[in-house]
Amino acid sequence: MKKKQIVQLFGLLVFSVSVQAVAKDKNTPLYKDAKAPVEQRVEDLLSRMNLEEKIYQLNQYTLGFNNNINNLGEAVKNVPAEIGSVIYFEADPQLRNGLQKKAMEESRLGIPVLFGYDVIHGFRTVYPIPLAQACSWNPALVEQSSAVAAQEARMSGVDWTFSPMIDVARDGRWGRIAEGYGEDPYATGVYTVASVKGYQGDDMSSDKRVAACLKHYVGYGASEAGRDYVYTEISRQSLWDTYLPPYEAGVKAGAATLMSAFNDISGVPASANHYTLTEVLKNRWKHDGFVVSDWDAVVQLVNQGVAADTKEAAEKAFMAGVEMDMTDNCYQRHLAELVNEGKVPMQNIDDAVRRVLRIKFRLGLFDNPYTKEVKQEERLLLPQSLRAVEQMAEETIVLLKNADNVLPLSGAKKIALVGPLAKNQADLLGSWSAHGRAQDVCSIYDAMTREFAGKADIVYAQGCDFDGENRDGFAEALAVAKNADVVVLCLGEKRGWSGENTSRSTIALPAVQEELLAELKKAGKPVVVLLSNGRPLELVRIEKQADAIVEMWQPGVAGGKPVAGVLSGRVNPSGRLAITFPYSTGQIPIYYNQRPPARKGNQGRYQDIPSTPLYEFGYGLSYTDYKYGTMKLSADKVKRGGKLTVEIPVTNVGGRDGLETVHWFINDPVSSIARPVKELKFFEKQLIKAGETKVFRFDIDAERDLSFVDSDGKRFLEPGDYYIIVKDQKLKISVE
Ligand code: NOJ
Repeated sequence: MKKKQIVQLFGLLVFSVSVQAVAKDKNTPLYKDAKAPVEQRVEDLLSRMNLEEKIYQLNQYTLGFNNNINNLGEAVKNVPAEIGSVIYFEADPQLRNGLQKKAMEESRLGIPVLFGYDVIHGFRTVYPIPLAQACSWNPALVEQSSAVAAQEARMSGVDWTFSPMIDVARDGRWGRIAEGYGEDPYATGVYTVASVKGYQGDDMSSDKRVAACLKHYVGYGASEAGRDYVYTEISRQSLWDTYLPPYEAGVKAGAATLMSAFNDISGVPASANHYTLTEVLKNRWKHDGFVVSDWDAVVQLVNQGVAADTKEAAEKAFMAGVEMDMTDNCYQRHLAELVNEGKVPMQNIDDAVRRVLRIKFRLGLFDNPYTKEVKQEERLLLPQSLRAVEQMAEETIVLLKNADNVLPLSGAKKIALVGPLAKNQADLLGSWSAHGRAQDVCSIYDAMTREFAGKADIVYAQGCDFDGENRDGFAEALAVAKNADVVVLCLGEKRGWSGENTSRSTIALPAVQEELLAELKKAGKPVVVLLSNGRPLELVRIEKQADAIVEMWQPGVAGGKPVAGVLSGRVNPSGRLAITFPYSTGQIPIYYNQRPPARKGNQGRYQDIPSTPLYEFGYGLSYTDYKYGTMKLSADKVKRGGKLTVEIPVTNVGGRDGLETVHWFINDPVSSIARPVKELKFFEKQLIKAGETKVFRFDIDAERDLSFVDSDGKRFLEPGDYYIIVKDQKLKISVE
């Protein structure tokens, strides 16, 4: 071929390729155009869908669990190509990619499946339970850890986490108290925003981010007497004061989805509640993502006595504003028929589908439906992830007692390490530990051995199990204690004692554990109690006997390392309780922000026990001492819409650096609707070096910080006096 001919042929080839590209572009539906705006893509796709395809988008199945990778074809075969979402139980992306291929290639419109999973406090790199996270008072760490979870999850085939759980809870008998951020609505809201940011980042289509799901909307934390799945009695006023604020904060922070709760709210179940799901969430807060029901929450409307059968349950949940039905197939079975009968308008179906598609587009699933298959070592338990979650675990530890400064253990040469948790790994993970494995966790024993290498010997005896009647190990434990300089006793709960469906009638530890402590006291050595648990505990008997108590919660994979650091003094504890520890179970419900009682002084008190908690909200000790200077206001009068600042200097007067948290409370003593005795409005944690003074500052915005809501969420700011409270200092502000 002559050179000229070759050039001509090449020109022809280039021409034909570009003609094809243009033609392809023209034929490509708008919804497949990655450059088109999301809303246009949603509308284009919606206009092409038939009713059956639309309803599929509103259903969630499950995929994985016991599926062996070898059964991939089998598992995928069972899930329809058109399904909207699945719960994905695997830790690797292959099964996902298999199903996604089917959806992209075998469904008429090629709509990707959305893969969700419970990544509650870590995917494989499990970090402390949320209740512990809240005690760090460090939202930046919560954001960082959530980002670690998001990265591991997305790289493993999960697009969407059913987290954060932001149910304000005040009853330690309720096992799910472990999954939330404690008793305070404001603090829960701050942590909600942090975790949503960590999960979703600025762009959910990143291959390291996932969509968040605020749950359980709403009021689930008010479960009566701590029993799970039961009726809750919540007045509209309490709904707005206590249970809705974290959701409002999460929606404002851009949370993609919410999960409707199991509980019945004063007669109208949360999963059939038009007021909360539509009037508040969609109409007032303008949430444009979707709501998924909790597992079987739609069919349960029949059990809850508001629907005669599964068809009516589907109608009620859907019309109230639940867009996606998790696993119980009520929508799959009945929505088409309900549309045909005119009970469910087509525009509601369209609105629901639009919401689901919008999130899929925002996640980038249409443009990048598959997960890159990289080795586990490249995505799980990465060194920087482990460092991040260990730092978080350090800051969650709360020092509850330290008589005669027994801690840190400086002079001890022999340490007796006793208790059911001393060599345990699995239970330190806590509930909902996703793909976390016991083998990833550093036990307290291993951590102590390393921490004290060359300084002290660690001698171990189990002493007893978590519960039961067997006291055979007491004698050995006592012998070990007698032979040591100090006893470190590791008590607490199994991971399965908290989480879903794990209510307990008492928050005391089983008798055998308390008896082991009493036995060890006979050795006459100082006893340090380490506690790992998923709820506040009744510690009154333990408190009387222990010389020191360290609440380490359920720390996740960092396991015993952070607490060993606290014992050696490498880590100065800085956690403060985000939940009240009652004196005993009988005080429940007890929380700091109660409304004022009718009678003061000694009236209305318990006759048999103190009426104050053992450890109050915000309590926690340090190895250093802080001296609070005098609180100062920039002005003591403020107009509506006005702002002022209040400052307090805090000096570290002890011998070592420390992290101190200042909690700023307000009190509105006279109001048309009674306000709590104090309410947290701001908090801040700062590093204060030994000898240094740091100024803490709260910028008060009168409308935001001094106002309150009525029983329909309408905000008021009333003229009059208010107080700003930090520890035992109180300053008056007048609103004019
Ligand atoms: C039921 C739980 O209540 C909820 O928190 C969880 O996300 C779903 N099951 C899915 O596992």
